Amino acid sequence: MGKTFVFVNQKGGVGKTTSAINLGAYFAEHGKSVLLIDFDSQANLTSGVGVKPEKNGVYEVLAGILPVQKAIRKTVCSNLFVLPASIDLSGATVELIGEEKSDFFLREAISPIRAEYDYMLIDCPPSLGVLTINGLVAADSVLIPMQCEYFALEGLTLLLQTIQRIKSNQNPGLAIEGIFFTMFDQRTRLAQQVVRQVGVYFKDNVYSTIIPRNVRLSEAPSHGLPISRYDPSCAGAIAYKSLCKEILSKI
Ligand SMILES: Nc1ncnc2c1ncn2[C@@H]1O[C@H](COP(=O)(O)OP(=O)(O)OP(=O)(O)O)[C@@H](O)[C@H]1O
Ligand SMILES: [Mg+2]
Repeated sequence: MGKTFVFVNQKGGVGKTTSAINLGAYFAEHGKSVLLIDFDSQANLTSGVGVKPEKNGVYEVLAGILPVQKAIRKTVCSNLFVLPASIDLSGATVELIGEEKSDFFLREAISPIRAEYDYMLIDCPPSLGVLTINGLVAADSVLIPMQCEYFALEGLTLLLQTIQRIKSNQNPGLAIEGIFFTMFDQRTRLAQQVVRQVGVYFKDNVYSTIIPRNVRLSEAPSHGLPISRYDPSCAGAIAYKSLCKEILSKI
């Protein structure tokens, strides 16, 4: 049976989507069959792998009008597939609230295909709302990207409390896979302090690979390509490749 990861951080722009795409691509390079699940109505993951965010995606699957197998698309990388999102998913936020078992919609939607993939990677929006809760209920473990800045730490406590609540109530098997740093700028002392401080608190839960700030990583999505295809020798690509290895070595 495969493993499902969810990328969560309620702070916006910390590298959730970039990490899901690029780790997914490197997992696929390792010969694993990988499904990226875009669970954010911004649909950045969808367009980041070169798929047009339009109808017949994850929203229609949740709504019960499309079988999940029919919504999945290929990407330019072999072994790497995507369950796309579109702006329609923003409606789900309103529609799901109040539904009985509203936290389990994604879990149920992907249950028919769990055995078909080695890894599923769920990308969540920047909030702890109903979509992120669905992501946490559907997953086996959580990957937390963190930007190396002061306010990063403030949200972390609430995030960990939320994970604990889901674990106690809806998903007892949920684990924290690990925390990793993104957009690291080694020139700033604050970035180094944050890395050290988080390391002291979370010890074994923190990956030693740090993703640097790298302009090639921000360019790749506009070409619809993971960094492994856009510029495999840039510093960002090397870092994500190394993080992929580190994650796989600890699974
Ligand atoms: N290591 C990096 N170096 C430079 N730019 C980066 C890096 N990682 C991500 N970016 C860029 O920063 C922006 C935010 O990254 P990304 O979209 O991955 O964050 P996010 O957490 O998914 O955001 P949101 O919360 O809005 O979903 C994007 O424009 C992305 O291309
Ligand atoms: Mg995102």
